[in-house]
Amino acid sequence: MINFNLEQSVLNHKLSFVDLELEQIKQNNLYRKLRYGKSNHAHITINGKKLLNLCSNDYLGMPVTKIKIKQMQSSSRLVSGNDESYKTLEKKLAKHKSQQTSLIYPTGYMANLGSITAVAKKGDLILSDELNHASIIESCKLAEAKVSIYKHNDMGDLNKKLKQKGKNKFVITEGVFSMDGDFSKLKEITEIVQKSKAITILDDAHGDFVIGTDGKGTPNYFNVTKKIDLYISSLSKGLGSFGGYVSSQNNVIDLCINKSKSFIYTSALPSFLVEYSLKRFESNREKQRKKLENNTNLLAKGLRQIGYQIDSKTHIIPIIIGKEKTAMNFGEFLFEKGVFAQPIRYPTVPKNKARLRISVTAWLSRKDINITLAIFEQAAKKFKT
Ligand SMILES: Cc1ncc(COP(=O)(O)O)c(C=O)c1O
Repeated sequence: MINFNLEQSVLNHKLSFVDLELEQIKQNNLYRKLRYGKSNHAHITINGKKLLNLCSNDYLGMPVTKIKIKQMQSSSRLVSGNDESYKTLEKKLAKHKSQQTSLIYPTGYMANLGSITAVAKKGDLILSDELNHASIIESCKLAEAKVSIYKHNDMGDLNKKLKQKGKNKFVITEGVFSMDGDFSKLKEITEIVQKSKAITILDDAHGDFVIGTDGKGTPNYFNVTKKIDLYISSLSKGLGSFGGYVSSQNNVIDLCINKSKSFIYTSALPSFLVEYSLKRFESNREKQRKKLENNTNLLAKGLRQIGYQIDSKTHIIPIIIGKEKTAMNFGEFLFEKGVFAQPIRYPTVPKNKARLRISVTAWLSRKDINITLAIFEQAAKKFKT
């Protein structure tokens, strides 16, 4: 008979390094724990407390549509998981991006991993903005190309670093940076890239469906749509559905189908989620986009009037606090007063640049915004930001 207690004590002993590591994380004020909640439009209820939700990526806040679940899951897309709905949505996404074709991945994270590693190889050079998302950083590590990080939005540094050797050269940037809410300098980047015959890869997870005419994304806003070689995006943010996708010319997508491990060796996104994305894509996105723009302007203006320094021009508004512990206390104060705005700390952002990342959604009413501003005014007095 197995002596359960004995095994347990051996197991605990072997894994005691885990406790040490967790203790270290706690001492640095970087410990994260899961909170369970129920989101409902502009609100989220956590532990029975109803809060205004200022950290949802469902930016457009489109009404939820019911969908019939006909098929849950069968296998990977290259086997029997390739439901017909994929074809319809991929066609629409390609048109939305003015590209030849698109490919849907289970998540945006996997779209980055799969496509970047498919195109960049040993002997190539990848230039990546220092504030790029973790999924881009991981993709760069997995690709065997040389990776060179350029200073955030610094065109001089990009120009200089592009002079390094590389068979194929790739420049990777986000469209709207996820934690700072600023735009990448796409006009300048695409000019520099064109001159050096490099390839532009854009992760527009936070600009897609929100920025530019008809939500066509950041390149549309900067009028450089034709200059983007490979688009990567998420269906889980502006569109408020789930999944990720890439758009490019046919041969690039063909290579992704043939090489992307995060596409080949994983189950297909269930078709009801693809159908849900289709429904959302075809709904009145423009009305929600206008509402989001209006909400963003109201909130940013109000925060500036209180005295917060707001540099962002988008729906992602960071309030930089600095010290991790202060950011946690700030977030806790907002929580107590009825606002959920998650503090963001290292390693998501650099050390001592902890912040409250406010994401504005079209769900918020004028009254919600006024309540939010009143609470942030109290927080400003308490924390003297
Ligand atoms: C810039 C950026 N790229 C990719 C992703 C990953 O997208 P998804 O949530 O669909 O995996 C995120 C998610 O936060 C992101 O911020």
